[in-house]
Amino acid sequence: MLFLQTLAIGSMLAWNANANAVAALVPRQNVNPGPVKGDTFIHDPTVVKTPGGSYIAAFTGDNIQMKQSSDRTTWRDVGAAFPSGASWTTPYTNGDKNLWAPDLSYHNSQYYMYYSASSFGSSKSAIFLATSKSGLPNTWTNQGLVIESTTSSGYNAIDPNLIVDASGKWWLSFGSFWSGIKLVPLNASTGKPSSSTLTSLAFRPTNGGAVEGPFITRKDSYYYLWVSFDACCKGAASTYNIRVGRSTKVNGPYVDKAGVDMMKGGGTLMMSSHGSIHGPGHNAVFTDTDGDVLVYHYYRDDGVAQMGINLIRYDSGWPVIY
Ligand SMILES: *[C@@H]1O[C@H](CO)[C@@H](O)[C@H](O)[C@H]1NC(C)=O
Repeated sequence: MLFLQTLAIGSMLAWNANANAVAALVPRQNVNPGPVKGDTFIHDPTVVKTPGGSYIAAFTGDNIQMKQSSDRTTWRDVGAAFPSGASWTTPYTNGDKNLWAPDLSYHNSQYYMYYSASSFGSSKSAIFLATSKSGLPNTWTNQGLVIESTTSSGYNAIDPNLIVDASGKWWLSFGSFWSGIKLVPLNASTGKPSSSTLTSLAFRPTNGGAVEGPFITRKDSYYYLWVSFDACCKGAASTYNIRVGRSTKVNGPYVDKAGVDMMKGGGTLMMSSHGSIHGPGHNAVFTDTDGDVLVYHYYRDDGVAQMGINLIRYDSGWPVIY
């Protein structure tokens, strides 16, 4: 017993000496997804809770695909947001119907959905806005272009997320690779940019600049910037992992738990591949009666993308997934 304790203390000292190096690679605790049933396939999910208490999800797919749930556990595919197509997006998709990474929210008695139109590996991209009274398929009104990027912009206008700050101002974060994650102020009456000035929030000087899928949340005195590092979309070989940093201001600077600025590659690891959970990433967060809820996709061993749902608690001002 004594021998074992000594051994344990010895390895803890070794652990502490390497803690900084290790912390960047292994999250404090890699938890498994909570229970999800029914139509569990999803990619780049977003979830909104309706005023009636049910849930609507939207995700990457032909003309944006949607699901509904009454209990947050059992999900049912309900069809495309735009069943008649979204012709306005085709200049950015080379005609593909596949639209990416929607962001659902509910404000001013209506649902807002920002979503992306692009093609793989190209920064010729655009973010569009649609609104709906019910949030369900075939009820969305196209509100048009929000922001676009070209092959020479140096950033990529995909992966949008709306955050309403503590003073009621609207902002849109977005971005993928190139010069990283950006923030643009929005006019809350139109949902469109109120200025063309972009603020940079996160950048990775390494790994080909692989940071995308921003999502900003607010809890008490902090804003949290969630992002995904590394590679999505490679089935069970995907290396996506979920990172977070925090700031007292919505427009940054965001730093991770070790104090590293997210503009310098910082980002505290929250979830990475483990066991049969491959490449968890592209997370969203919404607030429910039992706390903040993390939604993401991961790949099973057979390479099929699945919905992951966990709860978030806060420990000394840092989120913990459980
Ligand atoms: C926001 O948009 C509305 C409608 O177009 C416009 O009347 C208003 O002046 C805009 N506000 C700002 C701050 O730009």
